[in-house]
Amino acid sequence: MLLSKFEIFAISIGILVSIQPSYIHPDEHFQSLEILTQFFYGIKGTIPWEYDPQNGARSFVPLMLYYGPIFYFFSNILHINNPVILLYCVRLQHSLSFLLITYIALCYIIPKNDIHRSRTYAYVITSYVTWSFQSHSFSNSLETLILLATITTFSIQIGRSNENHWWLSIFQGILITLGIFNRMTFPAFILLPSLIVFWKYFLKHIRNFLVLILTIFATSAVCILVDTSLYDSKTYIIAPMNNFLYNMSVSNLSKHGLHPRYTHILVNLPQLIGPAMLYIVPHNKREVKSSFMSLQMLSIYSALMVLSIFPHQELRFLTPLLPFVCIKITEHHSTTFFKIWVGFNLIMGIIIGVFHQSGIADTLMKQKYYQEQNISVHIWWKAYSPPTWMYMNDNLTVSTTNFIENIERIDNINFGIHENYIIDLKGSDLELANDTIWNFIRDDFTKNLTLFYPDSVEGKVLQILNNTHLSYEKVYHTRRHLDLDHLDGDDLTTFIPGFSVIELQYTQ
Ligand SMILES: *[C@@H]1O[C@H](CO)[C@@H](O)[C@H](O)[C@H]1NC(C)=O
Ligand SMILES: *[C@@H]1O[C@H](CO)[C@@H](O)[C@H](O)[C@H]1NC(C)=O
Ligand SMILES: *[C@@H]1O[C@H](CO)[C@@H](O)[C@H](O)[C@H]1NC(C)=O
Repeated sequence: MLLSKFEIFAISIGILVSIQPSYIHPDEHFQSLEILTQFFYGIKGTIPWEYDPQNGARSFVPLMLYYGPIFYFFSNILHINNPVILLYCVRLQHSLSFLLITYIALCYIIPKNDIHRSRTYAYVITSYVTWSFQSHSFSNSLETLILLATITTFSIQIGRSNENHWWLSIFQGILITLGIFNRMTFPAFILLPSLIVFWKYFLKHIRNFLVLILTIFATSAVCILVDTSLYDSKTYIIAPMNNFLYNMSVSNLSKHGLHPRYTHILVNLPQLIGPAMLYIVPHNKREVKSSFMSLQMLSIYSALMVLSIFPHQELRFLTPLLPFVCIKITEHHSTTFFKIWVGFNLIMGIIIGVFHQSGIADTLMKQKYYQEQNISVHIWWKAYSPPTWMYMNDNLTVSTTNFIENIERIDNINFGIHENYIIDLKGSDLELANDTIWNFIRDDFTKNLTLFYPDSVEGKVLQILNNTHLSYEKVYHTRRHLDLDHLDGDDLTTFIPGFSVIELQYTQ
């Protein structure tokens, strides 16, 4: 049998977690599904800065290759525009492709030791990173797949270094290019491993190396032409370069948050792999030596080293390292350690994979706003940005707050629009939220407003609603929403999980 009972059980839990409405980070929607839905369904939504033709900082090619088939199938063949089905299919595709590619990659990366291989697989499928991050539509999840495939080709070249691998070099060139066009930091993950491969393989097969370089140039040219055409640009769009130039500017990065340089190593990695932190540093001389010969360990060190140079350091940037960490910790496998590992991952899986900001997608799924033609003004407050693609609305307007000298303002909101309008108030304060509501009411006393907020700020919402001229009704409530961003030690009500939707209107 291909999979043991335990493996089937762990994979089932993973699949179950993967189709929860949890929402880890806005980029899982805005850098993929939002763009694809606008492209395939012609709907209106949010255009993130990377995809603004002025910036052209992300390539369409990896998105079209990976998600294109699903979106084409649903939009052009089945004519289904249900965002719930789309979200689930994308999540399942991510989960299954990761499980399959990891399985194949491990056969090449650990060819000789069956027990090590099956134990590594057990660690991979019991990790909450597999269940949550890896199943969500992040560019980082796609990066994991490309990295696994690339390291596999490296393993084959080193393992059979006497043979010529023409086709492999071509495949490798395509993979590396797609990796770079998917995320410009991809080279960080393969920098050190490729030095070993160059030394051990390409030096003996210089013509293979030329094939690799030519393939990278040719594939890049295709990506640039496709992007230039899809962005409808007069000049060539070289997305990874635009992205790199943008990221070189600290003033740009500060808009996204600056972190201390040790964040990846001391904060992010421990959150991703928990107790496995004990084992990723070599324990003795023999391990140091074997680490420098192992492609996967070199990939871990190389990524940590290079990504730590950038001042913007998010947890998900490290997800591609998970399978390699699992290979390493299997060397230290014990039943006790495995139990601790599973315990850590169950807790994190429930927090991140089931509860984290779940009320947002949950509400949009249950309320089925996408079936209505025209919706009212929807005001989202103190929540992650609503994934506007889930409205599937071809006349949607989206506005959000803006900052002038670090002060949050609502200048961008057009209070004259009363239909199909989404306002993302983000974390703005009570006064700004109250002003927004009253500005809409003053413009037209007859129109309804819909307010979306986490229960952690219910106290503030009640302060706004405590007004003789407002009547309201709670139209939806779910307990399944954990808001980790607005916890306040002095106000214990902010720890209450849950998400609510109310409809309010003006009364005499
Ligand atoms: C939605 O609004 C537009 C313009 O205001 C109107 O033409 C259309 O009939 C409305 N659709 C529905 C289903 O009410
Ligand atoms: C689209 O939205 C704009 C702004 O709300 C509105 O003026 C226009 O009537 C809408 N058009 C349709 C066809 O619904
Ligand atoms: C909200 O704004 C209205 C109208 O300006 C005002 O009457 C009310 O007191 C404000 N409420 C709060 C809680 O600030």
